Amino acid sequence: MTRIKAGVLGATGYTGAETVRLLAAHPDVDLAFATARTDAGRSLRDLHPGAPDVPLRRLEDIELAAVDVLFLCLPHGAAQEATRQGLEAGCVVIDLSADHRLHDPAAYERWYGAPHGSPDLLGEAVYGLTEWRRDRIRAARLIGNPGCYPTSILLALAPLLGAGRLRDTTIIADSKSGASGAGRTASVPLLFSEVNENLRPYNVGHVHRHVAEIEQELEALGGAKGVVFSPHLVPITRGIVSTIYIQPYPPSDIRTIYETAYSSEPFVEVLPEGQTATIAHTVRSNRCAISLHEVAERDTLIVVSTIDNLLKGAAGQAVQNMNVRFGLDERAGL
Ligand SMILES: NC(=O)c1ccc[n+]([C@@H]2O[C@H](COP(=O)([O-])OP(=O)(O)OC[C@H]3O[C@@H](n4cnc5c(N)ncnc54)[C@H](OP(=O)(O)O)[C@@H]3O)[C@@H](O)[C@H]2O)c1
Repeated sequence: MTRIKAGVLGATGYTGAETVRLLAAHPDVDLAFATARTDAGRSLRDLHPGAPDVPLRRLEDIELAAVDVLFLCLPHGAAQEATRQGLEAGCVVIDLSADHRLHDPAAYERWYGAPHGSPDLLGEAVYGLTEWRRDRIRAARLIGNPGCYPTSILLALAPLLGAGRLRDTTIIADSKSGASGAGRTASVPLLFSEVNENLRPYNVGHVHRHVAEIEQELEALGGAKGVVFSPHLVPITRGIVSTIYIQPYPPSDIRTIYETAYSSEPFVEVLPEGQTATIAHTVRSNRCAISLHEVAERDTLIVVSTIDNLLKGAAGQAVQNMNVRFGLDERAGL
């Protein structure tokens, strides 16, 4: 099989370093370049001691046309110009930022506070929730890799959405994330002494930017009234747990619906009855663990879903999408 040539922009950040780590060990990929701005000229290992010894190069010094696939591990906004350049150079672009997740330019402007620089691309970009978008990913030029919280929530709800069971229910998602979810840029709320021994709700209710892509995809996957979403910062480095309350309880055979939907999925596990998904089930893996809890006497279903925010919530799903796009074994390198 032909080897895939890959490049990573923004390699010094948390998702960038994870993407480089996965690609450098991938059996079918040659990593052609990894870029940085101020740290160009150094090795990624100088910044992340566990990372492979990969030289960091300046964007100006690389040739985008030299790669088949370009991973963008940049802040939203910064990924737009890089996407255009990558597509013009003939690359498949996998954007880990939020720049190509929303399909409606007006929604992008409302949630991200600035107009999108390439609104024409928003209609074309495929939302890369791998398990539910394989056919479109196989033909995509541009993949908007899902956000970390949305991945945990959408994988947990998609089987019921697909079965048409959530159109009239209230969905409340209470999610908790480790501090790496906020990226590597220094800020006071992320200091050890602010995070340690604390648990901080933030953007409570309907204000976190991820609400936009969650609601877009709830609709696309089968329809729902919307979501109330409250994220929390917890004193761990990586991992997300989403506890999702569904009322009223959608009738009958819930476990069969989930087990059927995910029985042949390599990265999604529906836990047996009586078990509860925890961070430990999925941390440092590309897996999503789901547990189901029926509260019949209160007409409520609780779905608990966990992922590693940097893997299934970012770099792992991005590599999984590359595998699907290029016809590789979906599990390769993961
Ligand atoms: N962290 C997560 O769990 C997670 C999960 C899913 C998606 N994401 C998304 O993935 C993207 C990267 O996240 P992250 O957590 O890896 O962030 P990060 O740790 O802050 O890293 C972002 C990297 O982008 C580079 N960069 C910053 N501003 C830039 C600019 N204007 N132009 C070019 N490069 C710039 C920086 O590297 P240099 O300064 O070396 O150039 C920085 O290391 C974000 O859009 C984020 O929302 C993050």
